[in-house]
Amino acid sequence: MPTSRRPVPSAIPPLPSPFDPAAELDWGAAVYGRRLLREHLDQSHDSASRRTKVITAHVRRLRRLLPEPPARVLDAGCGPGFYALRVAALGHDVVGVDVDRAALRHARALARERRAGGRLAFRTADLRELDLGAARFDAALLIYYVLENFPRRQQPRVLRRLRRVLKPGGRLIAELRLRPDRPPGRSDWWDIVPDSLLSDRPHLLLGDSVYDTRRNSFVMREVAVFDDGTTAVLQTSGWLCPLASIPTLFARAGFRVDAIHDGWSSRRATPLSETVLVVATASG
Ligand SMILES: C[S@@+](CC[C@H](N)C(=O)[O-])C[C@H]1O[C@@H](n2cnc3c(N)ncnc32)[C@H](O)[C@@H]1O
Repeated sequence: MPTSRRPVPSAIPPLPSPFDPAAELDWGAAVYGRRLLREHLDQSHDSASRRTKVITAHVRRLRRLLPEPPARVLDAGCGPGFYALRVAALGHDVVGVDVDRAALRHARALARERRAGGRLAFRTADLRELDLGAARFDAALLIYYVLENFPRRQQPRVLRRLRRVLKPGGRLIAELRLRPDRPPGRSDWWDIVPDSLLSDRPHLLLGDSVYDTRRNSFVMREVAVFDDGTTAVLQTSGWLCPLASIPTLFARAGFRVDAIHDGWSSRRATPLSETVLVVATASG
């Protein structure tokens, strides 16, 4: 378990390794739910969810990329529902799915507060096993550090699951990072924090990241050091599909890529883009 207290420093590998099950964040683990929600709601940074004004601007762009309302839209990995809520307000019928029950509770409370009613529903689901019965959607969204957080071999499976819940001709809008916001190679930092994903009390937080540009993988690790000298470790990893390989990745899952935009702009992506928005069509 990543949060089990370990003696320093012998149990912590000198270099983080991507997708190490002993340290990797399990987004669905109840132990992190409340702390993850605190990160999602924090308007001083964009680490779990983006700030409200950024999301509002993105939804203006989504309005142009989504089918005409009312369409049935799936928000895959919806978190606390910030995009889902705003897309429902455009007149779409939206279902948000996520593994994080605490985030979904927050999403449902927001939906009730805004009286989004029948236009908005949330369900607990792991995207790797996604099965929504007979429900079929006109469009699906995969936004902000969702697809790239799965290992390379799992990404086609997640896309195939999404393909199955889309109608033939349905649209997938997927945001992917081409690189992390950390430099290539290894970098590290430290801070004294009042709380973090690892604890609710002040501690020393040591962080390091490894971005391997050859393998297109990165891992960002945090180690909390407590007053009594014990530690806890947690990391998030990603496999970043190179721009030139995106059409093949999506084709393997039954999608035709129609456009790859430079981030949230309408320009075409280039290998220098930091993030891209892929617009793809589910084959018949
Ligand atoms: C960085 S957050 C983005 C949330 C939301 N899309 C947004 O932009 O506000 C990544 C989300 O992916 C969800 N997630 C991670 N692994 C998942 C899985 N296997 N199945 C479903 N959701 C998952 C997390 O719980 C989290 O809510």
